[in-house]
Amino acid sequence: MTATVIIGTQWGDEGKGKITDLYAKEYDYIVRFQGGNNAGHTLVVEGITYKLHLIPSGILYPNKHAVIGNGLVVDPEVFLDELAGLAKAGIDIKNLHVSERAHVIMPYHKIQDAVEEELKGGFKAGTTKRGIGPCYQDKVGRFGIRMADLLNPEVRKKKIDQFYPVKKKFLAAFGADIGMTKEELLQWCAQQAKLMAPYVEDTSLLLNRALENGEKVLLEGAQGTHLCIDHGIYPFGTSSNCVSANGAVGAGIGPGRIENVVGVVKAYTTRVGTGPFPTELFDDVGERIAEKGGEFGTTTGRPRRVGWLDLVMLRFSARVNGLTSLALTKADVMEGLEEIKVATHYEKDGVKLEDFPADMDVLAKCEPVYDILPGWPELGQKGWEAVASKGKEALPENLLHYVEYLEKALDVPVELVSLGPARNAYVLM
Ligand code: IMP
Repeated sequence: MTATVIIGTQWGDEGKGKITDLYAKEYDYIVRFQGGNNAGHTLVVEGITYKLHLIPSGILYPNKHAVIGNGLVVDPEVFLDELAGLAKAGIDIKNLHVSERAHVIMPYHKIQDAVEEELKGGFKAGTTKRGIGPCYQDKVGRFGIRMADLLNPEVRKKKIDQFYPVKKKFLAAFGADIGMTKEELLQWCAQQAKLMAPYVEDTSLLLNRALENGEKVLLEGAQGTHLCIDHGIYPFGTSSNCVSANGAVGAGIGPGRIENVVGVVKAYTTRVGTGPFPTELFDDVGERIAEKGGEFGTTTGRPRRVGWLDLVMLRFSARVNGLTSLALTKADVMEGLEEIKVATHYEKDGVKLEDFPADMDVLAKCEPVYDILPGWPELGQKGWEAVASKGKEALPENLLHYVEYLEKALDVPVELVSLGPARNAYVLM
C-alpha cells in the first residue's frame, strides 16, 4: 500500500488539522513526521473543540493508530498532559505510538530558546519558545537525547553527566540558568521515562509492516512550506523540514511509498512571527479577515498577521512539494467582500519577479502585483453548512471561480473546499 502526505503550503495555520481529520477516515495510521508542540491543530468534532499540539489528529477516531515519528522533537510533559486531556474528554487512547528515535525536548531547551531569541536581535523568528530549535540543534550537533536514550537508565545518566555542565555553562554565559541541579534533572528524566515507556517503540518497523499488510498511512505535516528550515524564509521559520519529502524521512518509510501529496491552502495568507510578508494587509479588510477567521495562534494565542493570497508563494510550494492536489480552507471567512485580491507576481525596483526569492532583503522590498477577483456573498455559518450539505453545485458562483482560478494558476486540482470549522463543513470538488 502507499501513503499520502498532507502539508501546509503557506506559513502554517492553513487548517491542516481539519483536513487531516477528514482524510483520516480512510486511513489506518495517522503519523506526524516533524516539528513538535510548536504546532497547533484545532478540530471541532460534534460541537467539541480539541486543540492538539503534539498528538496526531487521528487519535480522535477510534481504532486508528496515531504515530509520533522519528522526525519529531517531543516534550514528554506536553505529551502526557495532552493525553490526560484527551482521556478526560473520553477519547480512547489505545493505539498511540512514539518513535524510539524521536528526540526529547529537555527543560533546558526551553530556556535556551528564549536566550537565543534575544541573541538574534533583528534575526529573531518570534519562536513559540517551546524549545523546538535548541532540541533540533542538539540532534544535529549530537548532543541530543532520544526516547531510546531516555528509557535506558545507564545511557541517560552518561549523557546527562556529560551534557549538563555544557548546558549550564552555555546558559550562564548569557545570564540564564537551567533551574535544576543535575540530580533533579536525572530524577525528571527517570520520571518521564517511566511514563513514556508504554508508548515508545520502533515506529518505522510498525509503519512498514502496516504498509506491507495493505494498510493505509497518512502523514500529517505541521507548520508550512514557507517555515521549512530548507525552503522557508530563513532564518524566520522553524527548525524542521516541513515539505512532503520529509514525510518519508520523518516516518521511516521509503520515499516511493508516498503517492499523494495534498497541499493545504488557506484562501488568504497568515503569518505568526517575524519576517517579510509581501501581501500583508494593514487596513480594515485585514482586520475583518483576522476577526472572522479567528486568526490567533493555537499554541501561543498571538494575533496572526493577515494578507491576500500569494501565488508566488504557492507556485514555490507546488514545486518543492510536488503537489498532486489542493485542499482550500477558510473560503467562508472571505465572505461578504466586494473584491478579493490575489498576488500573481512581485515587482522590485521596476523588475518583475515570478519566483519566490531566497534573499530576505529582496523579499522585504518586493511589491505584490494583484489580480482582482469578484467576492462572494455573506452566508454566515449556517448558510455555509447548508452549502456543504448540498455539495459543490451549491457553491456561490464567484467562489467556484476563485477555485478554478487557483487550479489554473498552480496547475494542481482542488479536491476539497472547507467552509467552516465543523467536521462536515466542506464540499468535494
Ligand atoms: P519555533 O518553531 O517555535 O522555533 O518558531 C519558529 C517560527 O515558526 C516562529 O515564527 C513561529 O511563529 C513559527 N511557527 C512555528 N510553528 C508554527 C505553527 O504551527 N504555525 C505557524 N507558525 C509556526
